[in-house]
Amino acid sequence: MEEFYRIKRLPPYVFAIVNDLKTKARARGEDVIDLGMGNPDLGTPKHIVAKLVEAAQKPQNHRYSASRGITRLRKAMAKWYRDRYAVDLDHDSEVIATIGAKEGLAHLALAVLQPGDGVLVPNPTYPIHSYSVVIADGDLRSVPLTPDGNFFGRLQETARLAWPKAKMLILSFPHNPTTMCVERDFFVKVVDFAREHRLMVVHDFAYADFTFDGYQPPSFLQTPGAKEVGVEIFSTS
Ligand SMILES: Cc1ncc(COP(=O)(O)O)c(C=O)c1O
Repeated sequence: MEEFYRIKRLPPYVFAIVNDLKTKARARGEDVIDLGMGNPDLGTPKHIVAKLVEAAQKPQNHRYSASRGITRLRKAMAKWYRDRYAVDLDHDSEVIATIGAKEGLAHLALAVLQPGDGVLVPNPTYPIHSYSVVIADGDLRSVPLTPDGNFFGRLQETARLAWPKAKMLILSFPHNPTTMCVERDFFVKVVDFAREHRLMVVHDFAYADFTFDGYQPPSFLQTPGAKEVGVEIFSTS
């Protein structure tokens, strides 16, 4: 069968590999504790399910949505940023709703990258951070994210050596899968770095609420100047 150009370029999908190993182990009768995907082991809270049922019963909701997301949702998102992070966002020109973080990342890369554009991405990382670049025909420039605490140094080195120069930087802290976290001063350095290298920054903030021991992860958008160089993506999944 014909091999499709984009599919062929994608790196192996780690979740598919883990699922395959799991299925084979279960077929052998092994007792597998599944730590593969972060699926909740409790149901969705009752009030959320009740609201979904209520909304699904209204025929006016059985239509296409607004492409940027309905106004009240975008207003609620802007309010959430103001209340939680003291970040001012204009719901009309600075907030959009996508069909999840993955869809947002994939289409953002398609919208802004040209074939061959270099994108700095930590390695390891959550698959869509590298897939979005490959799907958009961009050039992946991996930055090793290791436990030695020198990620920023490596980022500088990779950007310095890259030719043609990278156009975009994709970050995500708290980080999946390494759990690495950052403080606000890290993003201050990232904004300076982005200005120096004329990079667009994409920060995937999917783990904003998955923290322990009182640690409060900073939003990239809290950093002065962040809005001029980048965007932040949040997930409700
Ligand atoms: C870093 C990261 N971003 C995004 C997602 C998924 O986001 P969504 O379900 O909104 O596409 C995950 C899910 O595991 C994730 O780990």
